[in-house]
Amino acid sequence: MLKLAVFVSGRGSNLKAILNSPNLKELIDVKAVISNKIDCPAFKIAREYSIGTYCLGKDDNCIAYNELSNFLVSLEIDLVVLAGFLKMIPSDMVRTFKNRIINIHPALLPSFGGEGMYGMNVHKAVFNSSAQVSGASVHFVDESYDTGKIIAQKCVDISDVETPEEIAGRVLIVEHKLLPYVLEKFARNKIIIGKNRIRIIN
Ligand code: GAR
Repeated sequence: MLKLAVFVSGRGSNLKAILNSPNLKELIDVKAVISNKIDCPAFKIAREYSIGTYCLGKDDNCIAYNELSNFLVSLEIDLVVLAGFLKMIPSDMVRTFKNRIINIHPALLPSFGGEGMYGMNVHKAVFNSSAQVSGASVHFVDESYDTGKIIAQKCVDISDVETPEEIAGRVLIVEHKLLPYVLEKFARNKIIIGKNRIRIIN
């Protein structure tokens, strides 16, 4: 089983999609849900599934950012999944978990990424650009925002939308399929990391 730590900051719908995915039941084991926000709704979801929740930060009962790598190593985590986590991952953790941290982003990278591009900010920028397609991207995490190699993407037609919220709704449906799909491929060792490109095999 692939041992996961899932990082969240808010609602937790992608976390729920992972936990509810029938294809992942025998393949993954979510060992920890970690957040910079102690009262985020995603923690409630984790507790419903009896998964340990851990807050990040300076408070006494939280894990400090500089202890994060050791903590994940102690849990023998294979893969870290950022599912709506909005903070920068510490560089030492990126190095320790090279090619073992992935993020889901609610647009088609490399457009509409970078610092400050999260949640509705992304969908508003997509809307205002008049882009006719959007979608979701899953990529490896490196030491800056949204620049790691892209693992998988899925597009949605947004040519007829009238609000950014409509884009958000369409993209979220795609996210809930794309992230479990990528995790299944990881668990089955079907992700090939080449020099320039990432390939998913059947
Ligand atoms: C998702 O749409 C995810 O793609 C986005 O935050 C949302 C979290 O929703 N992530 C980013 O914008 C990262 N740049 P969720 O908590 O319901 O999964």
